[in-house]
Amino acid sequence: MNITPLTQNVSGDFVGEVSGIDLTAPLSEAAVAAIEAGMDHYAVLVFHDQQFDDDSQLAFTRCFGELEVSSGGEMSKPEERRLKLEMADISNLDRNNQLRAANDRVRLIALGNRLWHSDASFRAIPAKYSLLSARIVPGKGGNTEFADMRAAYDALDGATKAQIEDLVTEHSNAFSREMIGFPAEAYGADNQDKLRPVRHRLVRTHPVTGRKSLYLSAHIGSIVGWPVPEARAFIRDLMEHATQPEFTYAHAWRPWDLVIWDNRTTMHRARRYDDLHDIRDMRRSTVRGDAMTAPQAQAA
Ligand code: OGA
Ligand code: MN
Repeated sequence: MNITPLTQNVSGDFVGEVSGIDLTAPLSEAAVAAIEAGMDHYAVLVFHDQQFDDDSQLAFTRCFGELEVSSGGEMSKPEERRLKLEMADISNLDRNNQLRAANDRVRLIALGNRLWHSDASFRAIPAKYSLLSARIVPGKGGNTEFADMRAAYDALDGATKAQIEDLVTEHSNAFSREMIGFPAEAYGADNQDKLRPVRHRLVRTHPVTGRKSLYLSAHIGSIVGWPVPEARAFIRDLMEHATQPEFTYAHAWRPWDLVIWDNRTTMHRARRYDDLHDIRDMRRSTVRGDAMTAPQAQAA
């Protein structure tokens, strides 16, 4: 296995391109450790020509820890799903493999992926790695962009670093969906508990490298102890800072690409494509994190 940098920034390597390994076959412990070391160093790894089916993708994902069940599973009915619960369906297809219509509710919810975010940051224990496999890619558009939150942190001035060091933010799916026009009532009474905000540190420290990073996501709606408008204005400033071109990379997908990103140190977002006419079938498996980043609020 060989890793070469695709992008570097002021803080060093960010995205690595990996060759010389077939991830669909069982891997040795040494190979898994080498991928983990690559993830710690780069934060995003790109593999080509990995012809996964769902079972082999899940088997590979389990090498890195426990699987996370997708949030689509919580919000949608099992009989409406195209894929099993452990696979997040990042496609524009319904369970009969037909293109979704303009007003399809699942399509509209999925548009939230166009906002910069970190996966499952609305959970008290958020996701570690996400693994996105490209099965069918559209003729045009549909890139995924990534932002290096270690570099974004490093580039802050000293006063801002001191100001944010111990800040705690509140994340909820309700905040991100509100941003694209879904009122909280749209989730139905039985989903309200899944919208309760969770708390996370704004500055995270990577458990292996000790590097600090900004933990930002479209799911953030407030900062503990701050007036909400001030918090939102500040988070917006940090978002703008963190997603400047010098910290980002755009991935143009080929069929059978697999991209792994570390949600603790990166954000990502989907880019537009003609989803009413062109198929994009991407499937995401997700590795659970192992700890909360901050104590949670006591239930009222
Ligand atoms: C995801 C995601 C972006 C994309 O899979 O979590 O946000 O480009 N995907 O589909
Ligand atoms: Mn995502």
